[in-house]
Amino acid sequence: MGRERRPWAAAVAVLLVASCVAAAPLQQKHARISGNAGGVLDDDPVGKLKVFVYEMPRKYNQNLLAKDSRCLTHMFAAEIFMHQFLLSSAVRTLDPEEADWFYTPVYTTCDLTPQGFPLPFRAPRIMRSAIKYVATTWPFWNRTEGADHFFLTPHDFGACFHYKEERAMERGILPLLRRATLVQTFGQRNHVCLQDGSITIPPYANPHKMQTHLINPGTPRSIFVYFRGLFYDMGNDPEGGYYARGARASVWENFKDNPLFDISTEHPYTYYEDMQRAIFCLCPLGWAPWSPRLVEAVVFGCIPVIIADDIVLPFSDAIPWEQISVFVAEKDVPRLDSILTSIPLDDILRRQRLLASDSVKQALLFHQPTRPGDAFHQILNGLARKLPHGKGVFLQPGEKVLDWNAGLESDLKPW
Ligand SMILES: *[C@@H]1O[C@H](CO)[C@@H](O)[C@H](O)[C@H]1NC(C)=O
Repeated sequence: MGRERRPWAAAVAVLLVASCVAAAPLQQKHARISGNAGGVLDDDPVGKLKVFVYEMPRKYNQNLLAKDSRCLTHMFAAEIFMHQFLLSSAVRTLDPEEADWFYTPVYTTCDLTPQGFPLPFRAPRIMRSAIKYVATTWPFWNRTEGADHFFLTPHDFGACFHYKEERAMERGILPLLRRATLVQTFGQRNHVCLQDGSITIPPYANPHKMQTHLINPGTPRSIFVYFRGLFYDMGNDPEGGYYARGARASVWENFKDNPLFDISTEHPYTYYEDMQRAIFCLCPLGWAPWSPRLVEAVVFGCIPVIIADDIVLPFSDAIPWEQISVFVAEKDVPRLDSILTSIPLDDILRRQRLLASDSVKQALLFHQPTRPGDAFHQILNGLARKLPHGKGVFLQPGEKVLDWNAGLESDLKPW
């Protein structure tokens, strides 16, 4: 079992002492944190890459957005804000001949069900149509078949375009995107929906909204473990065990009566304030391993407890996730109480200090307008680190690698 279980009294002591540390400077500018992020987070990508932005017919982006403004606030909004960012970014070039990267602004997750979720059968058809347009309008796609192109694919399972893992895996990554660089929220090791060379990014969480909920940083952290969200998804998983691979159900069944656990499905008005009063914030997988909770926890200085086996975290080459969060294996959820209460106090304090670093928070946020070191810059850093392109990128004239007719028949329908 590894760790020794601590008595309840020790946990309470942790609550009291840790609360003093919450006063650490929340707004401190570019605090250096010790750890493997040294320097990487502060890289300035300007001058290291040039991006050509394709001008697409409005039906691929603006019209979708005009139809449904929820796309600007939901957790998939990175695809829209990245477009806006690039249009006025210093890395943009209007000369495609000097571009290192080509970007296609297409809002595949902005075609929503009445409940506000991206339609899984439309997204691949929108994307396929956009690629076809790019490939027939400009000569650049055919030179590399997309190997110097990047796409934002913030769907639950990235370019597999489905919220249910089984269906996402059946479809696989859209065949036309197999050579491209995918910038996506989904990340899980050895998964068919994460291809080599992808850049895992944070989901969108509205920075302005979070800012308006900041409370006095000296407020005691009197909640030990905090979580709000679903434990079961009766509508989509009536038999149970499939949603969150059972991990959320296990959190509820084991700890619903435990006084150290403040967990519920009720989303209170004080959700963001409560996170600032908590020591640990649970970040379990849902349908996909990722959720905006991770970003919210970091922004609010609540130590993320990541329960999602094999997750690949955003900008993991720049952010020292091991040092600012706690990882709990899905199978260990029944021992969550003893795992968390046996973490030594100085260990908790160290994680809280690192979490207070402004550079980590900024790296996870898509600011309007952009700020140095924010998520937009981290994406550019990721793209810059992939340069120069390898020899295999450029094809011989007339050489074809991708099969335009591969994939599910339903995805080949025109859009
Ligand atoms: C690129 O190749 C496709 C066939 O794979 C062709 O239909 C298209 O016209 C080519 N694009 C250009 C700009 O020549």
